[in-house]
Amino acid sequence: MTIRYGGDYNPEQWPREVWDEDVTLMQRGGVNLATVAVFSWARLEPRPGEYDFGWLDDVLDTLHAGGIRVDLATATASPPPWLAKLHPETLPVTEDGVRLAVGSRQQYCPSSPVYREHAKRLVERMVERYAGHPALELWHVNNEYGCHVSRCYCEVSAAAFRGWLEARYGTVEELNRAWGTAFWSQRYDAFDEVSPPSAAPSFRNPTQLLDFDRFSSDELLACYDAEVEVIRAGSDVPITTNFMGFFKPVDYWKWAPHVDVVSDDTYPDPADPLSTPYAAMVRDLMRSLGGGAPWLLMEQSPSAVNWRERNAAKAPGQMRAWSYQSVARGADGILFFQWRQSAAGSEKFHSGMVPHGGTDTRVWREIEQLGGELARLSGEGVGLEGSRVPSSVAIALDWDSWWAIEQPASPTSVAYLEVLFAWHHALTSLGLAVDFVRADGDLSAYRAVVAPAHFVASDAQVANLAAYAEGGGTLVVGFGTAIVDEHLHVRLGGYLGEPLRRTLGVWVEEFDPPAAPDLRATGGGEAPAVGLDGDVVGGSASGGTWAEVVRVEDAEVLATFTGGALAGAPAITRRATGRGGASGGGWYVATLPEPDALRRLAAAIVDAAGIELPEPIADGDAVEVVRRGGFVFAINHGAGPVSLRLAGADLLTGSEADGLELAPQGVAVVAVETTD
Ligand code: GAL
Repeated sequence: MTIRYGGDYNPEQWPREVWDEDVTLMQRGGVNLATVAVFSWARLEPRPGEYDFGWLDDVLDTLHAGGIRVDLATATASPPPWLAKLHPETLPVTEDGVRLAVGSRQQYCPSSPVYREHAKRLVERMVERYAGHPALELWHVNNEYGCHVSRCYCEVSAAAFRGWLEARYGTVEELNRAWGTAFWSQRYDAFDEVSPPSAAPSFRNPTQLLDFDRFSSDELLACYDAEVEVIRAGSDVPITTNFMGFFKPVDYWKWAPHVDVVSDDTYPDPADPLSTPYAAMVRDLMRSLGGGAPWLLMEQSPSAVNWRERNAAKAPGQMRAWSYQSVARGADGILFFQWRQSAAGSEKFHSGMVPHGGTDTRVWREIEQLGGELARLSGEGVGLEGSRVPSSVAIALDWDSWWAIEQPASPTSVAYLEVLFAWHHALTSLGLAVDFVRADGDLSAYRAVVAPAHFVASDAQVANLAAYAEGGGTLVVGFGTAIVDEHLHVRLGGYLGEPLRRTLGVWVEEFDPPAAPDLRATGGGEAPAVGLDGDVVGGSASGGTWAEVVRVEDAEVLATFTGGALAGAPAITRRATGRGGASGGGWYVATLPEPDALRRLAAAIVDAAGIELPEPIADGDAVEVVRRGGFVFAINHGAGPVSLRLAGADLLTGSEADGLELAPQGVAVVAVETTD
């Protein structure tokens, strides 16, 4: 096996003579995998039922002759205009009732049986024709499900939603109970009175909203599954579809078991200083979705994108540095959107591996360099690909909680992902590898599990978390957790509820965030933060924008709030639990300390959990250090050079790593002695 390298290849945008040059350049650039036909439906089926595969045969044969493998897309991501003309009801409708038009892409209603049938018919023909093609390495179903249209509010979707609800609840009484329709005269007498949560006068029913989120994710998954069924009937080549990092509309925990290999599209913004740690979190999610198995970076940009307000180019070396961040965190493939930068259409100003300026360009030179390096890293006896990233800490991630906590009329206005990111960043900046887990999953591999803002918690989830702590694990529960059950009914008798109340030795009486900022006084500045005091956060610190009244029953208070009505009240607590004795325990954190304080808190938690931090191999925070298999990756994201302290050979330069000076964006991949 080799590390995959390549990108989306759209030869139909170019004259035939360019294709041969493409293959020659791909060989020069070290490309070994091309994603073909992602947006080719209109070309493959120019008229209903009339297929034109000749050109695609030529593309696959040309690539094959050049030794390049193919990730063949099913081409169903963008239906041809004739589908909407024949079946206007396949066009999706927004929550405001606007029917979206053709002329862009992804203009299909996910619940439309007409769309699904046409898609399946095309996939059948593709499988018939290409299942046995020697270049075929991977099936790429559709593209970025839900990227533009993740929810449809049309009549067809409404009927499918009712069917989904009937299957979930059985009777309309049960739906009324789950949705709490005694409130605001929302009682339904029959399923056919129920609709998707389209634009409405005021707050829409929260459980209706949540169920529509779940339904919409499931409908997209059903589209994927329908294509997969067709492929599996005629091919045993592995199947993927490209995920989009932390993509709110689609519950990837549910999706991940349906793909043979997890693949991801990530476009960090070079102008955002937090892009690097945020991208690290995305890569860790991709590894976690596949249970630790290697995954593919299916798309990234060679340099600038064309869809931000300002499209910063990647700094020299940054594409390479971020690519290695993916490899370090478990990727066995680095691919781009797209191979040759388009000359026409909406994405002509999005960078390509072969830029408008051709090969005498920085972007091409960097593409060529990385391709050569990855080929060397895949060489005989190196053993990088397939290796795993060991991790003793995990963060619980939950789409229901993400959807529900960000609904209007929720207790916090905190963005779910920001809370997760704060914890991930704090833990990784200590040099730890961090996985994501489901709260009801197997937690036994971890010494510590953090459950921040896990707002929606089923009985199974709270029981699993509590059992983990009682069994000797270190459980950290952040504010906003276990407030409601899976129907969004409040867990009564004090927030947190049993069994977490017993495990953590605390409960929450009331939320009390600092008042919203007075925009006139602050000139539109930041929301005021609460103060914190406690050794565990390094003395006095800022506690971020959240606070609550914590009632301690059986726990040690490690930090208190300062200032205001909560002065002196508990903010961070810990109860030693179960078999773990001194190292196990249940922590409760009633706020989100500012980054430095959170990092100190994270250090105290992992110390108490008996997790040994790795020896720093460089001074300062600029170097990202990740251990994968028998390799340590060191990536310098800073502005100045940094020297390494690490024995072993750097596979990229062949030099001894100890004392090696890493330039900004510099990378070392060091083979180290390993005991596991
Ligand atoms: C992705 C998409 C690609 C391309 C790319 C541009 O979302 O899958 O087709 O549009 O973005 O950044």
